[in-house]
Amino acid sequence: MAGLVVAMDGPSGSGKSSASRGVARALGLRYLDTGAMYRAITWWMLQQGVDLADPDAIAARAGEPELEIGTDPAAPTVAVGGVDVAGPIRSQEVTAAVSAVSAVPAVRERLVALQRELIGSGDIVVEGRDIGTVVAPGAPVKVYLTASAEARAHRRTAELAGAAAGAPAAAEVEAQQAAMARRDTLDSTRKAAPLAMAADAVELDTTALTLDEVIAEILRLIKERT
Ligand code: DC
Repeated sequence: MAGLVVAMDGPSGSGKSSASRGVARALGLRYLDTGAMYRAITWWMLQQGVDLADPDAIAARAGEPELEIGTDPAAPTVAVGGVDVAGPIRSQEVTAAVSAVSAVPAVRERLVALQRELIGSGDIVVEGRDIGTVVAPGAPVKVYLTASAEARAHRRTAELAGAAAGAPAAAEVEAQQAAMARRDTLDSTRKAAPLAMAADAVELDTTALTLDEVIAEILRLIKERT
């Protein structure tokens, strides 16, 4: 399977990250989380006090931050200018701001070029919103993960609360669902490379599936396509 690229797209909470890492580990492939790159650049813009309501201000600084991304699926890393930002990029502040930053074409141009460099000659699972459509349109395996809005909000709330916290409260799940719906609308209606399913992608609804079942289905698909 030399040179294999697996494109994994879908909205937040569809189970992309866990499934992508699981598939990469099972096949000894690298793993690239492109959402972490948009989050890292957003973290840097917030640190710098860039006005995120002004796309021109974002575009003017898009080339500055130095991103370093590690692609080991067992321990993916993300740093900006030598600072490990794996924790801070998951903050609410970054999550709320990332759609505005990722809608700016200059940001996307820079990150897509970097993503293609990291993909290199392949052997990698790449997750994002535009991998099958823009970043790696020639990928032989493209998966588009979906799940019901309730399931996605439930997963994300539990993830944020941590594994030991038990079942999240209904009000929390509802608030999360509303926040995710806002972000999905921004991500799917923006002009530059909106969240979309590639014509040759296979859609996989994960609502009623366990993580192991999702991984098994993707491994089956990879075998079929390669
Ligand atoms: O997958 P995530 O939630 O970490 O992604 C964070 C944001 O980055 C998401 O709101 C949309 C954006 N994104 C993007 O525009 N293109 C990608 N390939 C990946 C993420």
